[in-house]
Amino acid sequence: MDKLIIEGGEPLKGEITISGSKNAALPILTACLLATGPVRLTNVPRLRDINTTLKLLNILGCETAFENGVVNAHVRALKHEAPYDLVKTMRASVLCLGPLLGLLGEAKVALPGGCAIGARPVDMHLRALERMGARFILDSGYIHGICGGLIGARIMFDFPTVGGTENLLMAASVAKGCTILENCAREPEVVDLANFLNAMGARIRGAGTSVIEVEGVRSLSGCEYSVMPDRIEAGTYLVAGAITDGELILRGCPTVDLDALITKLREMGVLVESLPDGGVLVRRDGPLTGVDVTTQPHPGFPTDMQAQIMALMCVAHGSGTIQEKIFENRFMHVPELCRMGARISLKDRTAMVRGVDHLVGAPVMASDLRASASLVLAGLVAQGTTEIQRIYHLDRGYERMEEKLSAVGAHIRREHEQG
Ligand code: EPZ
Repeated sequence: MDKLIIEGGEPLKGEITISGSKNAALPILTACLLATGPVRLTNVPRLRDINTTLKLLNILGCETAFENGVVNAHVRALKHEAPYDLVKTMRASVLCLGPLLGLLGEAKVALPGGCAIGARPVDMHLRALERMGARFILDSGYIHGICGGLIGARIMFDFPTVGGTENLLMAASVAKGCTILENCAREPEVVDLANFLNAMGARIRGAGTSVIEVEGVRSLSGCEYSVMPDRIEAGTYLVAGAITDGELILRGCPTVDLDALITKLREMGVLVESLPDGGVLVRRDGPLTGVDVTTQPHPGFPTDMQAQIMALMCVAHGSGTIQEKIFENRFMHVPELCRMGARISLKDRTAMVRGVDHLVGAPVMASDLRASASLVLAGLVAQGTTEIQRIYHLDRGYERMEEKLSAVGAHIRREHEQG
């Protein structure tokens, strides 16, 4: 398994270009199952999760080709079963339920199972699809869904689930009649999926708000579409510029989708400024101070930036708290940060972070995608050497991170390890 070696203490200076969004590309790729003609997607990031999704599409009967950030996909003969050995590596595979039920009237998808950050059930997906006429049985670790064609319905989510909203957008797009989805997730990635489906001929209105209306259509055509930039990757590099006391300019940074994060960074004493040429400048604007953060559904503070801002708070003056309200176990980075000298205490789903004068490099272990990013950020500012193991977690969601960071002055390299 690969590891990253970082010599900390170097302020980052220069420009970083933001890649396409993992969390938009994954549902959009799954939605390709609905297209009756060829689809061409551009600005697709080169990530492990993208490769996993392409494998899944191939198994489900959709031919795909991926090079230089461009995916060409074409459904040949749809199959209805998503195998466990693929689904277990990526929860987002459950997003194929909606398209398969919508088109074939049957879907067999391995239960995604939990992951490092929590149980992550799919009960809201299933209950909503049942409202549209699907029936499910759980059979030896698989969710087996059957329906005689999905019928439009009025559906209220108990919680604004991102995946649940996305699954139902795809299902409702090819259902018979109109579907009203209420208490929907408002994440920008949901909007990107809706825009893609509409480009294929779907009739979706209200994406980005809590109420979305979908008028089912008989079929969806192929199309060309460019995936939105990755706001979480961008947020991670905003923190990188601040934590190293450097000065970065990000290209393709979707500031409009990062309002809650940027507000908190400014509260901490970070300058984030949109430049006339479209770039976004980030640097410290005086000493860093601790803040209080609570993760919320969009447009609140994104849970996917919780670990990263925690790393920044570790080297701020004073203390701050982080309440994780979305996932029940998303503090796996805390013990690893403490190994680097951070002072963090946990009580239930709240972390109390007391800033320290400096962190010290150490061997640490990545546990999930955003925890890995947090450890990289801490390593960039720590005194000495940080070695991060199991960085396959990082490769799921960050395109060429060590290359992008090295290009702006970081002393970071990847070591390949046997086994
Ligand atoms: C998406 O996950 C993202 N993944 C996650 O990003 C992100 O953290 C999350 O949304 C919240 O913003 C992708 O888009 C591929 P949810 P998803 O359904 O769809 C519970 C990353 O780091 N829940 O909004 O799984 C669930 O357990 C990843 O890029 C149910 O209880 O998120 C969780 O506690 C991590 N029942 C909460 O709701 C359900 O049926 C939010 O889940 C569905 C969800």
